[in-house]
Amino acid sequence: MASFSNVVLASMAFMQVVLAGSPKTCSNPTLSCHNTTAVADTCCFNAPGGQLLQTQFWDTSPSTGPSNSWTIHGLWPDHCDGTYDSNCDASRAYTNITAILQSYGKTDLLSYMNAYWVDIDGDNESFWEHEWGKHGTCISTLKPSCYTGYTAQEEVPDFFQKTVDLFKTLDSYTALANAGIVPSSSATYTAAAIQSALKASFGYAVTIQCASGALDEIWYSYDVLGSVQTGTFQPAAPVGQSSSCSSTGIKYLPKSGGSTVTSTSTGTKTSTTPTSTPTGSFSGSGYLNAYTGGSQDGCLISAGTWYTSGTCATYTAAASGSGFTLKSSKGSCGISSGTFTCASGVTATVFTASNGLLAYNGATTFYATAVPSGSTQATVYTSSKSVSVTFQWESI
Ligand SMILES: *[C@@H]1O[C@H](CO)[C@@H](O)[C@H](O)[C@H]1NC(C)=O
Ligand SMILES: *[C@@H]1O[C@H](CO)[C@@H](O)[C@H](O)[C@H]1NC(C)=O
Ligand SMILES: *[C@@H]1O[C@H](CO)[C@@H](O)[C@H](O)[C@H]1NC(C)=O
Repeated sequence: MASFSNVVLASMAFMQVVLAGSPKTCSNPTLSCHNTTAVADTCCFNAPGGQLLQTQFWDTSPSTGPSNSWTIHGLWPDHCDGTYDSNCDASRAYTNITAILQSYGKTDLLSYMNAYWVDIDGDNESFWEHEWGKHGTCISTLKPSCYTGYTAQEEVPDFFQKTVDLFKTLDSYTALANAGIVPSSSATYTAAAIQSALKASFGYAVTIQCASGALDEIWYSYDVLGSVQTGTFQPAAPVGQSSSCSSTGIKYLPKSGGSTVTSTSTGTKTSTTPTSTPTGSFSGSGYLNAYTGGSQDGCLISAGTWYTSGTCATYTAAASGSGFTLKSSKGSCGISSGTFTCASGVTATVFTASNGLLAYNGATTFYATAVPSGSTQATVYTSSKSVSVTFQWESI
């Protein structure tokens, strides 16, 4: 046994590859953002960053990466409400990502990253350092204390490998092309069409971002059962992030078409912060999903009541004044006697969106006397009751 491991160690040393420790074993992990009580072991439970976002870029000015593929932005541990921590551990903000990956023998990973995880200014190493330092150091399960026999920086290859592995399952270009959404210097698309194309492949709504009216980012959300290293990533609807795209007239520009590469870039896109738009993505047809304590719990049905075990009603959102109105098969929706009601004869209320959530008079929190269960429907109130609930639009 001893001589066998000496042989292994000797051959690894010859290859100059570091023999890594291993992530702690997780038995019966809890799905991130779905706990109902505090979970102590954040090596097996991602917290507070429990919503893991695999974010992608479509860069056209200058263009980066293959012309028929999106590229990687990063893997972000957002809190269960869309807020996030950043730059969590200065002592691990490494400035030698390439060297670390090489020391762990990750040459194939590095080549892939140099093709698909690329910086707009060509400085890939700096971009990776930024993503690791800003977001990677905030992933609880990647802490050195979460490894058995930890070897220096071994969480770094784990972070980059997992991000690339997820990205490889998320072919945004093909998902959009399958719905006829292809790069064009003249065509425009609606947010609902883009959402529906991506949902058809991912299973859940995603967050889309635009710059100067053109689609340039897609954020895919996951909840994780176990650690980032060894756990299961479960696709999920985003919670709390907002889109910067308008609902119609969205461009999806071809890469390296027409415009020339500018040599000086004023701002790096790697630190993009979402800006909220007044009406968010409430347009066209969609569901009104209910969220309590950061996780989805049912949705609204056609009368405007909250239900946790049935089919969601299709709502239609239409721009109106400084916001939008909502309608279900029962009729227009409005706040009537302090409750959210949809019926014929109801005067439509103009709602707004805030951080992607439905808002009435600027407030995104609605109330119920209890979380509905079984066949019970809960009335949704605008004034304080024992349960707080928020509603997020899911385009269909
Ligand atoms: C879930 O677990 C985290 C980490 O222990 C804790 O901070 C959070 O409050 C828990 N959420 C609930 C709803 O108990
Ligand atoms: C990377 O940087 C860290 C911190 O400066 C250092 O301890 C480590 O030896 C470096 N790793 C490699 C492979 O160069
Ligand atoms: C870094 O990214 C660019 C694309 O911006 C790519 O062309 C280049 O080959 C990459 N750098 C290295 C060192 O491979």
